Amino acid sequence: MDYKIKSYSEMDTIELAQNIESEKFKNMVICLEGDLGSGKTIFTKGFARSMEIKEPVTSPTFNIIKEYTTGEMPLYHMDLYRLDGNVEDLGIEDYYKKGGICIIEWADMIEDYLPRHYLKIKFKIIDENTRLITIEPKGSKYEELCEAVL
Ligand SMILES: Nc1ncnc2c1ncn2[C@@H]1O[C@H](COP(=O)(O)OP(=O)(O)O)[C@@H](O)[C@H]1O
Ligand SMILES: [Mg+2]
Repeated sequence: MDYKIKSYSEMDTIELAQNIESEKFKNMVICLEGDLGSGKTIFTKGFARSMEIKEPVTSPTFNIIKEYTTGEMPLYHMDLYRLDGNVEDLGIEDYYKKGGICIIEWADMIEDYLPRHYLKIKFKIIDENTRLITIEPKGSKYEELCEAVL
């Protein structure tokens, strides 16, 4: 089952991220899709804040992958927007099993390299402050998580 949620402010999107974070588990993978400025990084910041990560979470545009290790478990934040080389060189698949959380912005760019099970979240800009957020759990663990928090 897919979930459609309207977010009317940055805070709404942060609260959604924090609800999902409350049911996080090791090796969880969250794939974010949506145009520039649709709220993917805001979602990630909300999630990281809930994990009690102390470093500021910024868009990892130039690094592609940023690791945050001051929280309850590691957070691997990927942003594939400027990926120009080979996906294989990133070794992204290694991160799915490192015992942390992976949040991948622009995950649709690497569809063939995603794990079998993950939480897909799509952001659509409706107007300045409104976003339509579609959540599609892939796999039973993610379905259960959605049932618990959405
Ligand atoms: N409902 C909303 N949810 C998330 N961001 C919103 C919302 N309404 C307005 N915004 C603004 O949209 C921008 C989203 O930026 P960002 O999260 O960096 O986008 P992305 O990572 O998808 O490119 C921010 O400036 C934020 O303040
Ligand atoms: Mg971003």
